[in-house]
This record gives sequence, structure tokens and C-alpha cells, in this order.
Amino acid sequence: MGFCSVPWSGVALSLLWQFHFTSGGITTYGLVPAAQTALAGGPLPTLPAYDQTVLQPPAPPEQPVKALTFEVQRDAADAQGMSIPHEHGAAFYGFSIEMSVIGQTIGKNSTHIFPAFLNLMSNICERAGIVLIRLGGNTQEYARFHDGVFEDGRITQKEKSGTTQTTDTPAVMYTIDLFYMLANVSAMVPVKWFLGLPFNDTSTFHLEMAEYGQAILGDNLIALQAGNEPDLYAAHEKRLPPYLPENFVDEWHELIKTVDENPKVTVKNKFVGPSISGSDPIQWNPDAVWETGFIDTFKDRLYALTVERYLTHNCGAAFGSGEIVNPQDVFSWYLSHQTILNLIGEYHSSTALAQQAGLPFIMFETNTASCGGFAGISQSYGAALWILDYGMYMAYSNFSNALLHIGGQNVFYNPWVAPPTKQSTFHEWTVGSVFYSALIMAEVFGKSNDGRVLQLESGSVFTPTYAIYDGTTLSKFALFNYVNDPTGASDIVVSLSVAGGGVPQSVKVKYLLADSVQSKTNITWAGQTFGNNFEADGLLKGDHNATTVYCDVSANVCRIPLRAPSFALVFMDSTSPEVGQATATYSTTAYTKRHNTLKVDPTSLAVSNGHSGKDRVKMGSTSPGSVVAPNGATTPYYATGGGVSLLLSLSVIIWVLVG
Ligand SMILES: *[C@@H]1O[C@H](CO)[C@@H](O)[C@H](O)[C@H]1NC(C)=O
Ligand SMILES: *[C@@H]1O[C@H](CO)[C@@H](O)[C@H](O)[C@H]1NC(C)=O
Ligand SMILES: *[C@@H]1O[C@H](CO)[C@@H](O)[C@H](O)[C@H]1NC(C)=O
Ligand SMILES: *[C@@H]1O[C@H](CO)[C@@H](O)[C@H](O)[C@H]1NC(C)=O
Ligand SMILES: *[C@@H]1O[C@H](CO)[C@@H](O)[C@H](O)[C@H]1NC(C)=O
Ligand SMILES: *[C@@H]1O[C@H](CO)[C@@H](O)[C@H](O)[C@H]1NC(C)=O
Repeated sequence: MGFCSVPWSGVALSLLWQFHFTSGGITTYGLVPAAQTALAGGPLPTLPAYDQTVLQPPAPPEQPVKALTFEVQRDAADAQGMSIPHEHGAAFYGFSIEMSVIGQTIGKNSTHIFPAFLNLMSNICERAGIVLIRLGGNTQEYARFHDGVFEDGRITQKEKSGTTQTTDTPAVMYTIDLFYMLANVSAMVPVKWFLGLPFNDTSTFHLEMAEYGQAILGDNLIALQAGNEPDLYAAHEKRLPPYLPENFVDEWHELIKTVDENPKVTVKNKFVGPSISGSDPIQWNPDAVWETGFIDTFKDRLYALTVERYLTHNCGAAFGSGEIVNPQDVFSWYLSHQTILNLIGEYHSSTALAQQAGLPFIMFETNTASCGGFAGISQSYGAALWILDYGMYMAYSNFSNALLHIGGQNVFYNPWVAPPTKQSTFHEWTVGSVFYSALIMAEVFGKSNDGRVLQLESGSVFTPTYAIYDGTTLSKFALFNYVNDPTGASDIVVSLSVAGGGVPQSVKVKYLLADSVQSKTNITWAGQTFGNNFEADGLLKGDHNATTVYCDVSANVCRIPLRAPSFALVFMDSTSPEVGQATATYSTTAYTKRHNTLKVDPTSLAVSNGHSGKDRVKMGSTSPGSVVAPNGATTPYYATGGGVSLLLSLSVIIWVLVG
């Protein structure tokens, strides 16, 4: 029985299956062998997470769009069709981490948390406040508490057996130190957690996730997920068919009853569901779940309504189930707004129901494609544009948040992942292109709890455009150009006007750039980059560049250059704090803290990162221990009325590795 035998499923790759791409398999997808250059530490590993495939970009349209014009209202009250406020105090994009890959993404245990992870999270926190992370996925269903410690000091252990799933072996075993690790993370950066409850065996619910999670994490545990992609349970032989929404509702009742009877589960009303993966005709349509009365029945137990969805899947390649998709054939899906309209349009009635019930509506797990994503697509600049557009459109469609999934070294789409364990320490972390999308979404709303999005009509699926309001007033524009055209013929000038007049004298523009849509290297946001594969430590490198564009005040227009391809975030208020957001709060040398003493041990740092602090100074402008100029911008600018605002509170915190 294949894992993803059905098309368009929302299944994430779980490491339980231990699927390994061989180099032969990768060649099938068009890996350029010459791209596998050797680094000092040895040849690049061929695991999907570090894939080097570069695809061909689609040809630009024969009649290029050269100019676009938008006139919008200054006052939110005059604008029609806006989203509800993004008011949940957390970055729009959070992350979803497969239970089995915590050790490749967060840390080894409570006293060994990866600094690159902390750096990445602090980049988001700095812009948006809180970061949401969910631990779960398919592996949550069989996760079992292990009352003890593992010999290797890790907090999780995978079941050693098998290439096939059996219903009686746990996918992941975890120790109590998992919760201490999460608590320690939250003590360092404002990360809040969702945890997945095992839902395999509803005759004996295993509630340790809830018991220890609530006891140890307290308010840093937002909610527990009950049931992951239940619409696939029958197909995956987790339940006997037919398994219907009514059956799932019955099991929820059983869970609630068990929780009510368990004194160790003290918080009894913070669950999320139904976390279905699908839509008609094969999986459950969201409406089929709402028709059971799910919302009314469980309203008092729910923190939020959740769905999980991917645009498509790559299960044929990942599990040999279904057709093998050539990534080149579907690359254009990720270079068009149309696919997003089709996908998210299906949820408009659901987000309206969530609003009526007063519940957040969260895309609980998503990314470019389920079953691991696609070679050449999932880490491309094009994917970064698409995931950013997808986030903007979800926000416009009244989703509260969305969580980008991380499947570890055997998938293509990770926002970030550790170096392979057996590689030399020279190989550092890999930050995927979609992490930039998450970072930028964090800037789009900033720390305002009152940001709203309006989609503007651009007339083309290659140029989605949004206006962002903060409170009562127009704040930003988000401009996309998906067209790949190195000749410059498809570069666009976007003219932005405010109804009734009154554009500012100048605006600040930040660009997300790379050579071309298929590029997987040298991606920059406002001039800064996390580095290419094996180069990242979670900090942005390079000089921050927020470009000043002078407006024609008498003509009431700001003309923004938008090359093909690119994304631009236009700040109507040059003094808004996000304009200057340049770099992270953590030192490159941050390391695990065992005691609260703050001091640096250069020897251990040199060993642990593979670079000494000194080397790192040469690698980028962000040097450990130094404070980066707050506005970081290379073009000097002046705040209208009252000097340069304080843009960034940069605290460089250095943790010491003791022992
Ligand atoms: C965490 O792992 C490190 C390194 O393997 C080990 O020295 C330490 O004892 C572990 N900590 C815990 C709390 O298990
Ligand atoms: C991290 O977790 C350990 C438990 O292993 C605890 O002793 C330590 O105090 C924690 N550190 C922080 C900073 O919370
Ligand atoms: C999963 O459920 C089956 C059937 O109820 C049970 O026999 C099995 O032990 C469960 N597996 C785990 C890991 O909980
Ligand atoms: C979002 O919610 C607002 C307020 O209820 C509504 O006016 C708007 O139509 C919704 N947007 C979408 C795309 O459903
Ligand atoms: C990336 O940028 C570096 C430094 O600017 C440059 O040397 C290198 O050629 C670029 N790589 C690609 C693939 O464009
Ligand atoms: C800043 O970005 C703009 C727009 O991409 C570019 O034209 C300019 O050369 C950049 N400035 C620096 C100093 O990199």
C-alpha cells in the first residue's frame, strides 16, 4: 500500500519510510552533475534537502506588460473587500516540523539547541513578535512517550525498523527532555508551540503530549492538534473504510471525554482541528466536516480551525505510488497566481464560518508540494515568490496564520535544515528560499496587530498586487513580477497613486531578488542573504539596502521599477520600523546556554561552528559582538518630521558553550 496513492493529497513526507534518493534517482529529475562541486569538507551530499537541480525557466509572454497603474484609498474605511485584521500577535508564517526531524531542525536536547535555529527564529520575532511552531505531521500519530533517556543524549528516536509502516510500531519515541528543550527555546526567543496528539489508537489515547506539554510549557503551548489529515486515515489503512467525517467527530467526542477525565490535562479547551488535507472528490471537502456540526459542537474546546493543503504532491517519486512527475513540467504552476486562486478559493466559505464562530483559521501544514516537494522547484527563487504570494493571498482570504512544513534531509522544501550529520563541520546550515517568504510576510504586517490586506486587480496572473493597511491607513504595497526575462523587455514600471492625491515625497522599497526564477543561489532580501547551501548560520549577511524612490507629488504618483522577475515591498511611510529591519539579534556565535553566565569561549565556538568568530567577520558585514548600524541602509534617508526613528533594537547576545 503506497503512502500517497491519491492525487492532490496533503500528505507530508515522513522519515518513517526512510526513503533515500539515489544519485540515479536525482538524475531523473535533471540534476546538473557539474553543479555538484566539492567543498573543502568533501562532495556535496545528494540528499534532497541539498539538491542542486536547476530547471529551465518558462519563456516570457510574447506581449510583455510594461506598465501597471493602481489607485487606492488612503483610508481603510473607504476601501472595499479587505481582509480581517491580522491580529493574532504572531508572524503570519510560522513553521510545522515533522516530529521525526526535530533533531535536524531545533536541537539535540534541552542543553544543546542549535544556534542557527535560534538566529532564524529571532529574525522573524524581531519583525513580527511571536513565531508559531507546530511539532507534528504524520509521525505524530504513532509518537510514543519514552520514560527514560536515550543513550545518544537525543530527545527523540526513530523506530529502527522498516521501510513500511506498520500500525503497531511507533514512528517516534520522545523523552520528557523534549518539553524542556521547547521551554528553553521559548525562554530565549518568543516561540509558541502547537503539539500533535497521537490519534492512532482512540481506544487508548496517549495523552503524555498534553500532560507534559501543559505542565512544562504552560502558556508557551498554544494548543494541541487532535487528528492529522483524518481524511486520509482510510487510504493509509489507519482506519477501516469507510471512514467519514461523522466517525472523526465521534472520535473527537471520545478524546474530549478522556481529557475531561484526566486530571493531568489541566487545560481542556485548547485543541485544533479538523486538519483535513483535502477537498472533493477523493478526500473530505471542508464543507463535509462543517456539515457534521463540528464547529458548533466543539466551539468551546477549539483554539482554532485548521486545514492542511499543498498545491500538489510528489508521491510518485517519493514512494513509487502514482505517476512520476517531471518537476520541469509543473514549474510554471509555481510561477503564476492562478494556482493560488484555485487552491485558496476553496476555503473562502470556511474562513467566513471561522469568523462567525470567532475562531482563527490556520493553514496548519503546507509548502510547495507534499511528499517532499520537487527537485529544482522547492528551493528556487520562483518558489520563494510563489510561497510569498500564497501567504499574501491567504491573509487576504482571512486565514490567520499558515505553517510551512519541514520534513528534514529527505525532502526538498525545508525552510531550513542542519548539515548532514556525517559531513564535516565546514558544511553549515541550509536555508531554503521559502524562508525568505516567511521573513517578508513578517515584515508585511510587522508588529502591528491591525494589518489588513487588499488584493488589487492587475489583470495578469503574473503580476499579483496587494495593498496593506495598518489600522486606518494605507501602509504598504506588495508587488510581484513572476515573469522571467533577462532581456529586460518584461520589466515593469508600477505607478501607485492615492485616491484624492497625497502620495509622499518618497517611498522606501525593499526587493526580493535573484538572477532568475530557477536560481537557488544568491537570493537577497533588501540586499542581504542567508547564504547558499551549507553557508548559513541563520543571520543575514551583506549590506542592507532599502531603496529610496522619489514620487511625483504634483502628479500624485510613485513609479516603482519592478524587474522581471522580482518582488517589491513598498513602504508608503519611510519611518515605519520594518524599513530598517536589517539583521538578527543573535550573534553568529550564540551557543547553547547551560548556565546563565554570559561569556565567550572562542575555542568551543571555533569547533562547534567550523568557523572561528574571526573568520566570520570576513564572511559578512555582521560581526559577532558588534552592533550593526540600526538603519543599515546604504542610501541615507531622512524621516519626515523628527529625525531618523529608532529602527531596530539590536541586542547581541552571546551564549557560551560550557564543556
Ligand atoms: C545533550 O546532548 C549533549 C551532547 O551529546 C550531552 O552532553 C548532554 O548530556 C545532553 N543533555 C541532556 C539533558 O540529555
Ligand atoms: C534548559 O533545560 C534544562 C533541563 O535539561 C534546565 O536545567 C536548564 O535550566 C534550562 N535552561 C534554560 C535557559 O531554561
Ligand atoms: C495503533 O493502534 C492499534 C489499533 O488500535 C494498536 O494496536 C497499536 O498498538 C497502536 N500503535 C501505537 C504505536 O500506538
Ligand atoms: C474577509 O473577511 C471580510 C470581513 O468579514 C470580508 O468582507 C471579506 O470578503 C473576506 N475576504 C474573503 C476573500 O473572503
Ligand atoms: C553569487 O554571488 C557571488 C558573490 O557576489 C558571486 O561570486 C557568484 O558568482 C554568484 N553566484 C551565482 C550563481 O550567481
Ligand atoms: C540597492 O538596490 C537597488 C535596487 O535593486 C539597486 O539598484 C542598487 O544598486 C542597490 N544599491 C547597492 C548599494 O547595492
